Amino acid sequence: MQIPIIYFSSSGNTKYIAQLISEGLKFANFETELIPFNSLKEKNLDFNRINVFGIGAPVYAMSFTPNIRDWVKKIPRVNRKIKFFLFDTSAGLPGPSIRNIRKTLELKNCEFIGAIEIIVPTRDSVFETNLFKYVMWSRRSIERSFQFGIKLGKIIRLGKGTLDWSSIPMPFSRVIYAYFKVLERPSYNILSRLFGFNSEKCIQCKTCEKGCPTGAISFNEKLIIYHNRCMLCFKCKRNCPTNALYFKLFPKAVYFKGPKNIRGYISPERLLEEYKKRV
Ligand SMILES: Cc1cc2nc3c(=O)[nH]c(=O)nc-3n(C[C@H](O)[C@H](O)[C@H](O)COP(=O)(O)O)c2cc1C
Repeated sequence: MQIPIIYFSSSGNTKYIAQLISEGLKFANFETELIPFNSLKEKNLDFNRINVFGIGAPVYAMSFTPNIRDWVKKIPRVNRKIKFFLFDTSAGLPGPSIRNIRKTLELKNCEFIGAIEIIVPTRDSVFETNLFKYVMWSRRSIERSFQFGIKLGKIIRLGKGTLDWSSIPMPFSRVIYAYFKVLERPSYNILSRLFGFNSEKCIQCKTCEKGCPTGAISFNEKLIIYHNRCMLCFKCKRNCPTNALYFKLFPKAVYFKGPKNIRGYISPERLLEEYKKRV
């Protein structure tokens, strides 16, 4: 049985966690398929032919990212119980992100089997300063993600059970969440206007348009950003090969180049090898 793991990741943290969970599942003798959000369309997933699936996203405004939320809402109601698991990465304020997606999927007849929330070392991915040089991955978070995969494998094989799960506790969670919900869309609208574009550097490769997870960019000789669709993931800017796109607030910042560049990173494949040797 192949287990699809659908994830969105802009700066790479969620992708890393997805890979670790996937290797954990492989250790438990399951096959997995990692599906980045941008290749979902071509995959054309048929939920009536899947037994188990996973979804992961970064936390934006105390929720899964808007693209994943919208996609989950569109998943059709299934006519038999399908098991699912969730994971997110955040800077420490995940709020009710897992709980909300879980509710939506349960209403579609899917069965929750577990979730994991990882606080990442790179707290600077919103405005991308160069603080990432001074932080490191916790070995515990890396192993927890891998072991989450192993535990999921046991539950799937048993055919019953749920992994104990409770969200990261946070004081005044409800008040902060309500505040974020009201401000989320207007903030993206306002902040997305701070993207700068240097047409002299642009080589018209359209990588920004192709990679945008919300269709917020169109490039036809001129760059147009649809501010009402942008969710500020910065993927366009990250993917731009010539740095033609920049964020006006921090035009000279040294940007986070993904979890591999953080101290303490262990490749998911290497961790799998380590675990195999331990057995
Ligand atoms: C627009 C935006 C909003 C965010 N909002 C939150 C938040 O509400 N709570 C939180 O803990 N982290 C928040 N973060 C941090 C991300 O969740 C975190 O950096 C995540 O690991 C990024 O995942 P990625 O590397 O897979 O893109 C936000 C980041 C961005 C860019």
